[in-house]
Amino acid sequence: MKIVIDSANVDTIKKLIDYYPIDGVTTNPSIIVKEKRPFLPLLKEIRSIIGDERMLHVQVLSSTATEMVEEAINNREQLGGNYYTKIPVTREGIKAIKELKLKGIKVLATTIYTPMQAIVAAKAGANYVAPYVNRIENLSGNGIQVVEEIRTMFDQYNLSCKILAASFKNVRQVQGVCLAGAHAITAGGDIIESLLNHPSTQGDVEQFQEDWKSFYREE
Ligand code: E4P
Repeated sequence: MKIVIDSANVDTIKKLIDYYPIDGVTTNPSIIVKEKRPFLPLLKEIRSIIGDERMLHVQVLSSTATEMVEEAINNREQLGGNYYTKIPVTREGIKAIKELKLKGIKVLATTIYTPMQAIVAAKAGANYVAPYVNRIENLSGNGIQVVEEIRTMFDQYNLSCKILAASFKNVRQVQGVCLAGAHAITAGGDIIESLLNHPSTQGDVEQFQEDWKSFYREE
């Protein structure tokens, strides 16, 4: 089970890496634009913060397979380390995934809304698929069920592709995809911080300290 940060904010990434068992960072064009910085220096800074071992996922912006492949090769050269190219599951995207597989460049197939999109991407050679849980629920679908169905199909057909569930607005959704068999989740800093939330925990910690001090105060 991997926990990945869905953010390009260097302060958020530094803080979460310091405290939590983080396996990498995912970005998308909208997330990068929010930082209002030149994108390659920003991504290089993220790589230096997370180190070479952790995953860094960067989405291509091109529309044709040939350009997507070129973009992926260039980004991998620039960013190094444990690098993944995010490719949307368009027709051109699937063609690009097949070519990237032959070139040995790892792929996260993204913008997944259905199990069949996931199957096609996995068969094309994607290492991960990213079902968009909350965006599916915004369309009145069941994002957790989509993850469960993808996992069932991957197991049934012995596909080695893994599920990196994405797009969350609450901890219930994260817990749901964990139970449904996601291999990894990517979420913003606020959601990752919320994974520890329970109203009783802080109260218990304070009570333990009070009990201890009531007897051992002097020491
Ligand atoms: C990650 O790969 C996706 O780009 C991201 O999780 C989408 O999340 P959102 O629906 O909260 O924008």
